[in-house]
Amino acid sequence: MQDRLESLATRAREEIGRAEDAGQLEALRVRYLGKKGELSAVLGAMGKLPADERRRVGELANGVKAEVEGLLAKAQARLADTALEAELNAPPIDVTLPGRGRPPGRRHVVSRTLEEVTRTFQRLGFDVVQSPEIELDLYNFESLNIPADHPARDMQDTFYVHADWLQVDPGAIVLRTHTSPGQVRTMLGQKPPVRVVVPGKAYRVDSDATHTPMFHQIEGLLVDKHVTMAELKGTLNSFVAAFFGPERRTRFRPSFFPFTEPSAEMDVSCAGCNGKGCRLCKGTGWLEILGSGMVHPNVFAAVGYPEGEYTGFAFGMGIERVAMLRYGLDDLRSLFENDVRLLEQF
Ligand code: PHE
Repeated sequence: MQDRLESLATRAREEIGRAEDAGQLEALRVRYLGKKGELSAVLGAMGKLPADERRRVGELANGVKAEVEGLLAKAQARLADTALEAELNAPPIDVTLPGRGRPPGRRHVVSRTLEEVTRTFQRLGFDVVQSPEIELDLYNFESLNIPADHPARDMQDTFYVHADWLQVDPGAIVLRTHTSPGQVRTMLGQKPPVRVVVPGKAYRVDSDATHTPMFHQIEGLLVDKHVTMAELKGTLNSFVAAFFGPERRTRFRPSFFPFTEPSAEMDVSCAGCNGKGCRLCKGTGWLEILGSGMVHPNVFAAVGYPEGEYTGFAFGMGIERVAMLRYGLDDLRSLFENDVRLLEQF
């Protein structure tokens, strides 16, 4: 038994001295000191020895155990030193290597156009106000002189918001179908003179080459004493000259909107063909970019402005249309496909 212990100690010294990594060291620890290891086997056999011999061998076994534990600890320290040494001698990190690039992002062409149009109107003296995208039917339609049976209120055109928990009539809340409710909210909140633009998103149940369910508009509203249609035309012509350049021509066509009287739509001469007719303008030489008109007296009544005291003009411009015209795009949907190859061009 004593021989077994001595041979165990000899082998342990040699093998632990040779161990080259933490894995080998752990395997040796299990082999010699583990529950089913060699030392345990010797101790297990000790029970059969006479008492005085058992004591002697026991002491010897404890000595061997302490020695093996010491060897393992020392070997562990040696391996840690070696690892550190290797790390310190490794080639240094080259801090002059160029970093991994992150391609810069850019604003979407629609956002940029909306921002530039807004800024152009700011230079013309308009304040910028925000108005909610989730809107009351009251402000989106009712206050704008759009009667209950108007086709624009049809389920086909309008996204209705179901909000049972608000305990309002079904149909009382909509996604705004245009930015015009911004007119109502502005006038409810202030007396004339009013001179604002309302940029933002609008929603309609509509999807084809020239319509997307979500689109952008900018609303304009100017109300004061003695405002005339000449100022409407002058303002919008100044905008076109400033935004598209002085070479673009404009034309106004009579139109109808329930909340303006008279009403007009404005076309801008096509940038793709300079008015000669092309795919972009469908051969007409003109692109329609906005609806406009003189604020209807019923709208003034709905917001509580005194009868007959004020006049004003309003317009609603389609931003995607403006972006297409500005950048010569011929399919509106390309703006929302989010193909970076297209978006990187602007
Ligand atoms: N809100 C109208 C539309 O979306 C545009 C418009 C705004 C017309 C203001 C007249 C005055 O078609």
